[in-house]
Amino acid sequence: LRASLIGAPTDVGAGARGASMGPEALRVAGIVAALTHHGLEVHDRGNLSGPPNPWLPPVQGYRHLAEVVAWNRAVFDAVSAELASGHLPILLGGDHSLGLGSIAAVARHCRQQGRKLRVLWLDAHADFNTSELTPSGNVHGMPVACLCGFGPRELTHMGGEAPALQPHQIRQIGIRSVDPGEKRFVHEQGLEVFDMRYIDEHGMRHAMEQALAGLDEHTHLHVSFDVDFLDPEIAPGVGTTVPGGPTYREAQLCMEMIADTGRLGSLDIVELNPALDVRNKTALLAVDLVESLFGKSTLMRQPRPAR
Ligand code: ARG
Ligand code: MN
Ligand code: MN
Ligand code: MN
Repeated sequence: LRASLIGAPTDVGAGARGASMGPEALRVAGIVAALTHHGLEVHDRGNLSGPPNPWLPPVQGYRHLAEVVAWNRAVFDAVSAELASGHLPILLGGDHSLGLGSIAAVARHCRQQGRKLRVLWLDAHADFNTSELTPSGNVHGMPVACLCGFGPRELTHMGGEAPALQPHQIRQIGIRSVDPGEKRFVHEQGLEVFDMRYIDEHGMRHAMEQALAGLDEHTHLHVSFDVDFLDPEIAPGVGTTVPGGPTYREAQLCMEMIADTGRLGSLDIVELNPALDVRNKTALLAVDLVESLFGKSTLMRQPRPAR
């Protein structure tokens, strides 16, 4: 299996500066060696470039929209190129607005190849805001809505056709912060959300069994891993912490169950903010979890697919 790392060092979609340092922090935490160790042939493509962060207030409900579009175009092109050459793209963000460009590329690739697509959105947040609903104007709170066709044309049509995704293709896991208008919109659009209450009541195992149900050999699985998914006690290095997230064990199980499906086709690792981290521990944790996502296990066991 050949994987390509694509760094996108920007925080133009976020409300705090620092996620632009995420790609290098993940490299310093050993992501290349960790993946190589699990049998992948890793190609580090280095970092994309794009506009600097102007750090301006929102305009008509969007902060830095032109810059967000420019970075997403770069991500879209880079992810498309890796998919076309049969490599598994791993986007190193950067803020979560970049999930738009990454997943728009994956969705177009799947359309062309006649493959099904399932997106797992691991996050504390639903990221389903629009310019009318957003309390902040930060576009990292909007990528899922844009992928479903709600947002500015430059973003909704990044992959040509819109919408790039239908809500039924998405499963959100770990959610515990949704804004008031966003909450109604998530409900109206019928997003399937395994929020923290669901995980508390049914456990991570059952949540993942549900989220992974119905995958087959024709399904491409995309994981969009917002590091703020994790409980901030173990993962302080993010800009938008929300207490009460998955523990280390729950997060490991989540990743292991994804690995067991054998369907992982692309990955985003976003929102890591080294300026807010403690001795790079959040980056090290993210790399540890990504190892599990690519099949690290304690014992030599047969894959035990989710039922
Ligand atoms: N819902 C909030 C907003 O729209 C926070 C979004 C946080 N998103 C993220 N990818 N960290 O501003
Ligand atoms: Mn988040
Ligand atoms: Mn069960
Ligand atoms: Mn997010």
